[in-house]
Amino acid sequence: MSPKELEEGLKSGEIPISVMGLGRMGLATACLFLDVGAKILGVDSNRRVVEMAASGKVRFTEVGVERILKTALDEGRFKATDKPTDVIPETPIIMIVVPTSVDSRNRPDYSAVEKVCRQIGRRIQEGSLVILDSTVGVGTTEDLVIASLEAASGYRAGKEFGVVYSPIRASEGSVLKDLKNYPRILAATDTRSLQAASTLFRAIGVDRIIHTSSFKTVETEKLFENVYRDVVLALTNELAAFCENAGLDYSEVREMCNSQPFCHLLLPGAWVGGGCIPVNPHFLIEAGEYNNSKLRLVKLARKLNDQLLSHTIRLVVKSLRAAGRSIRRARIAVFGASYKANVKNLAYSPIHLLVERLSKKGAEVRVYDPFFTSEELRRSGLPAARGVKGTLEGVDLLLITVAHDEFKTLNLRNASRLMRKSAVVIDCGNVLNPRKVEEEKLVYRRLGRGVQG
Ligand SMILES: NC(=O)c1ccc[n+]([C@@H]2O[C@H](COP(=O)([O-])OP(=O)(O)OC[C@H]3O[C@@H](n4cnc5c(N)ncnc54)[C@H](O)[C@@H]3O)[C@@H](O)[C@H]2O)c1
Repeated sequence: MSPKELEEGLKSGEIPISVMGLGRMGLATACLFLDVGAKILGVDSNRRVVEMAASGKVRFTEVGVERILKTALDEGRFKATDKPTDVIPETPIIMIVVPTSVDSRNRPDYSAVEKVCRQIGRRIQEGSLVILDSTVGVGTTEDLVIASLEAASGYRAGKEFGVVYSPIRASEGSVLKDLKNYPRILAATDTRSLQAASTLFRAIGVDRIIHTSSFKTVETEKLFENVYRDVVLALTNELAAFCENAGLDYSEVREMCNSQPFCHLLLPGAWVGGGCIPVNPHFLIEAGEYNNSKLRLVKLARKLNDQLLSHTIRLVVKSLRAAGRSIRRARIAVFGASYKANVKNLAYSPIHLLVERLSKKGAEVRVYDPFFTSEELRRSGLPAARGVKGTLEGVDLLLITVAHDEFKTLNLRNASRLMRKSAVVIDCGNVLNPRKVEEEKLVYRRLGRGVQG
């Protein structure tokens, strides 16, 4: 089939695609294809996820996804099921976007990928193309994905079917935009599969496609991106801690550093969460064990970023003490439960651990997050009062954990009236103007901002 025929077949719905895993990335991937007229058969092992997708409901906030999904449902171009066996024989193109994570000992967990590969392998048709999008460790595409597909199908990859690895490069909150705008990196078992995948990604508007020499190169590239971020975050937080101890303001120092082009210091944060940055470095660390790479900096960055929460808690205790209060029986409002700004996602957010550790010290904690109702927060086991007012009433300290946009416009006068006299505000999201907070007779603290004198 020529690239033109493939593109036309995709856009007319004659060549349907199945997407395995309808989470944030899977559903967004499906939407990119739906948006150009494709027909998608979505598969998810979670019945609730299937029901929601089939009724056009999206359980996360991601610009554009709900609108595209609803249009496709109205036009009969999207179906969701929990039965992969029904859809695999119907779709010559199969995309895998299931989760990959680590276990309690930080060892990679690819069980979902392995499971779908066996399911695909049992029903795959000759001539099909399997595209793996999930993030995996070095060697996994060949040793686990291709091996499982071949064992279950009896076919040979690169001959009777093709395999492409093309990891997702996108940030939560802007996934559709990122998936189109960032270059797509591909490796494949054979030239035909590489060309076919390139045609598919071009058809959804990806401008730049980078072909690489091997699966291992792409796997490593994806992991390096997240390791880079983890290391810069660790450095950022270390330097911010130095400024805190030295009575300096890290934000001011950073602004000057970043005024030359080789310095890209970030802003410090209360934690490093999410399903990628705290997880993917462990995929690389495991690969390093097989080739005697020590990866000391990678390991250290992970350790330091895991310890950030302790630093935030120490700052809470210290700030309360400086204000003449004790953590025991202190009332603390926590603004921000999501793992990062402007997304609705508690996965890999240390919010539960934060509440547990503050409570153990005797504090009474309430959590507020504009992306969740208080009912949703309570259902996830977090102590939540009603809205901003209910959360701030009578508190000794407000801890802002992430930079949700809503926090930037917090009415400080009202907040000050609701909180106890001379209450403390710890602004880990860097969202408030210190002068304006202090004008309301509140004590302002921020990560990386030392107290002089
Ligand atoms: N979230 C991000 O910011 C991001 C960014 C880049 C890459 N990724 C990678 O994308 C992949 C998917 O991430 P996500 O954020 O969409 O995860 P997610 O947890 O939001 O969604 C995964 C979905 O797969 C389903 N699933 C699990 N096992 C399954 C199985 N055996 N068969 C069918 N469905 C199954 C789950 O029910 C869930 O709905 C991961 O490898 C992740 O590392 C994520």
